[in-house]
Amino acid sequence: MTEILVLGGTGTTGRRVVAGLRANGVTARAATRKPAEPGQVRFDWADRATHAGALRGVSALYLLPPIGEAEPARLVEPFLGDALAAGVRRVVLLSSSAVTADTPGLGDLQRLVRTAPEWAVLKPSWFMQNFTGEHLVAQGVRDGEIVTATGDARVAFVDAGDIAAVAVRALTDAAPHNAEHVLTGPEAISYAEAAAIVSAHLGRTVRHRPVATAEFATRLTAAGFPAGFARVLAALDEDVRRGAEDRITRTVEQIAGRPARSFATFVQEELR
Ligand SMILES: NC(=O)c1ccc[n+]([C@@H]2O[C@H](COP(=O)([O-])OP(=O)(O)OC[C@H]3O[C@@H](n4cnc5c(N)ncnc54)[C@H](OP(=O)(O)O)[C@@H]3O)[C@@H](O)[C@H]2O)c1
Repeated sequence: MTEILVLGGTGTTGRRVVAGLRANGVTARAATRKPAEPGQVRFDWADRATHAGALRGVSALYLLPPIGEAEPARLVEPFLGDALAAGVRRVVLLSSSAVTADTPGLGDLQRLVRTAPEWAVLKPSWFMQNFTGEHLVAQGVRDGEIVTATGDARVAFVDAGDIAAVAVRALTDAAPHNAEHVLTGPEAISYAEAAAIVSAHLGRTVRHRPVATAEFATRLTAAGFPAGFARVLAALDEDVRRGAEDRITRTVEQIAGRPARSFATFVQEELR
C-alpha cells in the first residue's frame, strides 16, 4: 500500500495534516529531522541523503518548503525531481496568500509544483496560530503588546486546522484539484480587534501597537531574524496595511464541507 509523505510533519499545519489523514484511514508518514515516534521518517532539506528513504513507497506529498530560504527552488527542484522519479503523482504545496508566481523565490515553487501529474497550491492568509506558541505575535500576547506594521488594516486570519482539512482533501480526493486555493477565515479583523478578543478571553489587556515598516524590520532583526528575511517579513506587513489580506473566500467550507473556524472560537479553544 502506498503512503502520503507529509513534510514539516511535526509543524503547525503538517501535524494536523498527518492527524487528518490518519483519521481518514490513510497511512501518513511524518517527516522530521528528529524522528522519535512510529510513523515518522527522517528528512532534512539540508541532507539529501535523507530524501530517498523518505520518498520510498510514497504516492502523494504535502510539500512544506524549506523555511527562511531566499531561493527555496534550489532545494525543492531536485527534491521534486527525485519524488516524481520515485513514483509520487500528487503534490500539495503549502504556499501563502501573499505569494504569486511572480514573487521572487517562493513564487518559483508555484510553477514547479505544476510539473507533478496532479497538484494543488494552498494559499492561506495569516495563521490564527501565530497568536500561540513561539511566533512573535504570541510573544506580543504574553507581553501585552502586539507590534506590527499593519496599521489598522484587516486580515482574514485562518485556522491551521482548516488549512489541514483542505490539504487532506487535496491529497486524497479521487479527482486531483489541479488548482490554487486561497484560504481565509470567515471574517477579516484588524490586529487591534484581534487583541480586544484576546484581552476579553485572557482577562488582561493586550493591545496592538502599529509601527512604521522600517521600525518593524529593525525590531525583527533585533529579535534574531537575518536582515534580508526581516525586510521580507516587514514588507508583507506593509502589503497587509495596503489591504492585501482584507478579503474572504469560502474555499475552506466548499472543500472541507464545514464552516471555517472564527477567530473568537480559536481564542476560546486554543489560547491559554
Ligand atoms: N504563519 C503564517 O501566518 C503563514 C501564513 C501563510 C503561509 N505560511 C507558510 O507556512 C509555512 C510554515 O508552515 P507551518 O507553520 O506548518 O510550519 P512550522 O510550524 O513552522 O514547522 C516547521 C516544520 O519544518 C520542519 N523543518 C524545519 N527545518 C527543517 C529542515 N531543515 N528540513 C526538514 N524539515 C525541517 C520542522 O520539523 P522538525 O523540527 O521536526 O525537523 C517543522 O515540522 C511557511 O512556508 C510560511 O510561508 C505561514
